[in-house]
Amino acid sequence: MAARSRHGNPPELRRLMRRQLATTRARWQRPDRVLRVLRLRRGAVVADVGSGPGYFTTRLARAVGPRGRVYAVDPEPEVLTALVKRLDGAGNVTPVLSRDDDPMLPPASCDLALFVNAYHHVADGPAFVQRLARCLKPGGRLAAIDWAYRETPMGPPLRRRIPPEKFVGIGRRAGLVPVARHEFLPYQYFVVLRRARSVRGR
Ligand SMILES: C[S@@+](CC[C@H](N)C(=O)[O-])C[C@H]1O[C@@H](n2cnc3c(N)ncnc32)[C@H](O)[C@@H]1O
Repeated sequence: MAARSRHGNPPELRRLMRRQLATTRARWQRPDRVLRVLRLRRGAVVADVGSGPGYFTTRLARAVGPRGRVYAVDPEPEVLTALVKRLDGAGNVTPVLSRDDDPMLPPASCDLALFVNAYHHVADGPAFVQRLARCLKPGGRLAAIDWAYRETPMGPPLRRRIPPEKFVGIGRRAGLVPVARHEFLPYQYFVVLRRARSVRGR
């Protein structure tokens, strides 16, 4: 099998991006329900971390409206180029070329950071989450949707998956408290953590 890039992407990136954007994905990804339970307000600032070509980015951009902002964060230049082409002038999306260990977002800037199928690609997840937590506003949320820790009809092999309890533990060590766990996705877990409203010593 051909080697993956250091961001976990296979060499045939264009084929992968087509798959990520396929309309049939909605059957199991349920993006409308994901957006509904996140209850984003108009004007909110959101980071789509590991955005890929923007399956969620465009939906988030519509949800926060023209006075809101979506940072589409990815360390792979080619996927951000594909994302910019898809935006078709949506003025409230800022592509951010991140680093492996740093989302490269302004401190205390986001109401929500969302990882979809991306956290398990991050080489040093705990260090990345520490940095990401600092980019949340006080009271801001980190939501993670990633492959369930069991065999599923699609998704990476079990050895590349991260159990949700482990993700929550990493979030806790970054000062985030779990506030919700949604169970409606057939192949993925969906957890939400929150940064304390008053943050001392961070
Ligand atoms: C499977 S894709 C998911 C894309 C998108 N979130 C979606 O649901 O369609 C994983 C993405 O995570 C990105 N990624 C890998 N390492 C990363 C890191 N350290 N920080 C942020 N994104 C990363 C990859 O480049 C890739 O675009």
